Amino acid sequence: MKFIIYLFLFIAACNAASNNTICTNGFNLINNKCWKLFQEPANHTMAERTCTGYGGTLFMARTAIDNRAVGTYVSSYGIDRIWMGVFCIGNSKSQCYFDDQVGSTAIYDNFATGFPNAENGGCVYYSVPGSPSGQWMNFYCREVLPYVCELPITHNDNCDYNFNDHCYFPFVELPFSSAQLQCQNLCSNLVSIHSPEENRYITSIYSQSSYDFIWIGGIATSSDFVVWADGSVMDYSNLETFSTGGNCLKMALKSTDYHSRGGWYTDDCSTLAHFVCKRPIGAVDCSGTPPPPTPTPPPINPPTCTTGDHWAPGTISSPNYPNSYRSGCAYTLTTYGSNKIRLIFDYKQIYVTDSVDIYDGVSIYDTLLNPLNCTSCDLTYTSTGNIMYVNFRVTSSNSPGYNGFNATFYSVF
Ligand SMILES: *[C@@H]1O[C@H](CO)[C@@H](O)[C@H](O)[C@H]1NC(C)=O
Ligand SMILES: *[C@@H]1O[C@H](CO)[C@@H](O)[C@H](O)[C@H]1NC(C)=O
Ligand SMILES: *[C@@H]1O[C@H](CO)[C@@H](O)[C@H](O)[C@H]1NC(C)=O
Ligand SMILES: *[C@@H]1O[C@H](CO)[C@@H](O)[C@H](O)[C@H]1NC(C)=O
Repeated sequence: MKFIIYLFLFIAACNAASNNTICTNGFNLINNKCWKLFQEPANHTMAERTCTGYGGTLFMARTAIDNRAVGTYVSSYGIDRIWMGVFCIGNSKSQCYFDDQVGSTAIYDNFATGFPNAENGGCVYYSVPGSPSGQWMNFYCREVLPYVCELPITHNDNCDYNFNDHCYFPFVELPFSSAQLQCQNLCSNLVSIHSPEENRYITSIYSQSSYDFIWIGGIATSSDFVVWADGSVMDYSNLETFSTGGNCLKMALKSTDYHSRGGWYTDDCSTLAHFVCKRPIGAVDCSGTPPPPTPTPPPINPPTCTTGDHWAPGTISSPNYPNSYRSGCAYTLTTYGSNKIRLIFDYKQIYVTDSVDIYDGVSIYDTLLNPLNCTSCDLTYTSTGNIMYVNFRVTSSNSPGYNGFNATFYSVF
């Protein structure tokens, strides 16, 4: 009997070793996910902030197996509720989004009867088995609860910065092309960035430094297209400022009047900056020449009035823009859990009796961020939470011949 148990353990150990799946930062490998319980209760914003400090999110259950596994994981701690990485902007399952922005709870959910119900708060907690078992309920984001953070799994490699099956290596100042050459000498490339989590992870590498920016491995050919030095497909962008002073991409590490932390902007390629190299874990491919880029056109946000939910980053504009408007429009700008919305007007020309009102929340009952009916308002606004409501009020009876506005909005943290 004992022998059989040993044999079992041996086989299990071999499996684990051959797989090499690991979690970094002291997270626990559970159900092929990396989870860590934080028992100290925190409001939703602070909980999100802790998770994103590791480059992760609050935990997300996307299958019944995940949903049971998290319950089992926390069950021995005497906790009855934990925050999870879901945020609702309405009462239907398709209006509740997972924190990594990959899909809504229309795909999988375990909401209790009567939920989702965003009137009970946009945030969502998981009720630990026993007190209704493993079900999800809305709750006010300001309430404090314990929480579980989630990081992508990764695999063993010899590097200090190991995230989602890639190694990252920070280096000191060089011009863009020399930086890429140095990366290639190390069988890597200047970093390409493919998700908000990876973007945050890169900023977290520099959380203890005082640098204002770094090179990342992209060249922007227009405000909505980036070619990555490693040849990977552009499937995510956080490009904030596209200017003609150069096409190489920098990432801001501090928020200033011009840049948001984590935001990308173009700059003169010959300037010096610190930089990060990136390579897949395991196989070291030292061929030196990256595969040719495969350009795919990025999704375009049509600038029309589509009243409703807009996910950052994107643009909004008045109906019929760039021609004159005849009617108003309301826009809900959203980003995931812990982030904020920054709205920047590119163009604004409206009649005196009309107004663009910007609210720090979901509706006109939230705090107004600009003065009512202001004629020369600021052009940049930042919300405190993850939703901004923009109400373009048109009271002029017919078209006054003004072109309205267009604006770009970003997810900032
Ligand atoms: C090995 O890792 C993969 C994901 O990379 C996972 O799907 C699989 O279940 C793991 N196998 C074992 C035995 O842990
Ligand atoms: C969340 O907690 C932090 C720190 O305690 C506090 O500064 C912040 O105002 C709280 N936010 C909300 C929405 O309650
Ligand atoms: C703003 O304009 C609207 C419509 O012209 C008007 O009803 C309202 O009283 C104005 N509010 C302020 C504070 O001026
Ligand atoms: C906004 O409109 C201005 C003027 O028509 C144009 O130059 C600019 O490219 C537009 N911006 C966006 C994001 O559509």
